[in-house]
Amino acid sequence: MTLEIQNVSKQYNGNKYGVKDFSLCIEKGILGLLGPNGAGKSTLLKMIATVSKPSDGIISLNKNNIAKDPNYIRKQLGFLPQDFGVYPNLNAYEFLEYMAAMKGVGGSDLKLRISVLLEGLNLIKAAKKPIGSYSGGMKQRLGIAQVLLNNPKIIIFDEPIVGLDPEERVRFRNLISDLANNCIVILSSHIVSDIDTIADKVAIMKNGTLVTNGSQDDIIKNVANKVFETRIEKENLVHFGEQHTVVSTTRKEDNLMVRYITENPIKDATKKQANLEDAYLYLTKTN
Ligand SMILES: Nc1ncnc2c1ncn2[C@@H]1O[C@H](COP(=O)(O)OP(=O)(O)OP(=O)(O)O)[C@@H](O)[C@H]1O
Ligand SMILES: [Mg+2]
Repeated sequence: MTLEIQNVSKQYNGNKYGVKDFSLCIEKGILGLLGPNGAGKSTLLKMIATVSKPSDGIISLNKNNIAKDPNYIRKQLGFLPQDFGVYPNLNAYEFLEYMAAMKGVGGSDLKLRISVLLEGLNLIKAAKKPIGSYSGGMKQRLGIAQVLLNNPKIIIFDEPIVGLDPEERVRFRNLISDLANNCIVILSSHIVSDIDTIADKVAIMKNGTLVTNGSQDDIIKNVANKVFETRIEKENLVHFGEQHTVVSTTRKEDNLMVRYITENPIKDATKKQANLEDAYLYLTKTN
């Protein structure tokens, strides 16, 4: 299974691009799509899900151009949009039955399938209550259940982890890892820790373009031997930040411990093992 994105752009009104000349070939496994707010993640994912069309370029699944034949991908697709709306008066069973009908999923085992999904997403206890009474995280989990109704082979989650508490995050990650064997799964986030434990591959976006992609190790190589830690005085942070890419700061008594990326560390700095967060911040920094 191959999803190929070739020179894809999305131009909004005027000259503004949401995505610009983006190319990437995605194979089965879990892809983490990382990028800061406004990077173009949702714009790209909506085009793959055929709810929006590229202004330029081609997206194809197994060599089928999805703009020419959207149903080819739709039949195999599960999509959780970032702004997933629900129907407050329906309960979870009714909502999933409704979504199943919309997706053309039926059969004698539909009820069982819905129960299994609700169980897997820890919603079974609340399943007969109206969705309007659910918490944000519960609605998010119902959105995830809806994605999986039709046994999709291409699964796209736009910021699925936002709003889930730590325990639900673990459940979600386990669920995704189980699913990913024969599927393409794309997970977007602006937070590295949302995806770094499960993504086989990572793509980083900024300003509508692809900054880099590859395995986590490949991406970390961008900052190998460049991550340091040192103690500075609070007053010097602004000046320090102008000279190095600061990744994080922690208070240490009256001073600050700064983790930063540089080619030229200051004297007595301690070298640190680079991680994906370091690379992400370095590659998407604004200056
Ligand atoms: N319908 C639209 N009309 C005009 N501009 C848009 C529209 N949708 C998105 N944009 C712009 O396109 C750019 C990319 O937006 P997009 O929502 O794809 O980013 P994102 O990476 O998903 O961000 P976030 O992390 O905040 O969800 C932004 O500058 C945004 O303002
Ligand atoms: Mg978005």
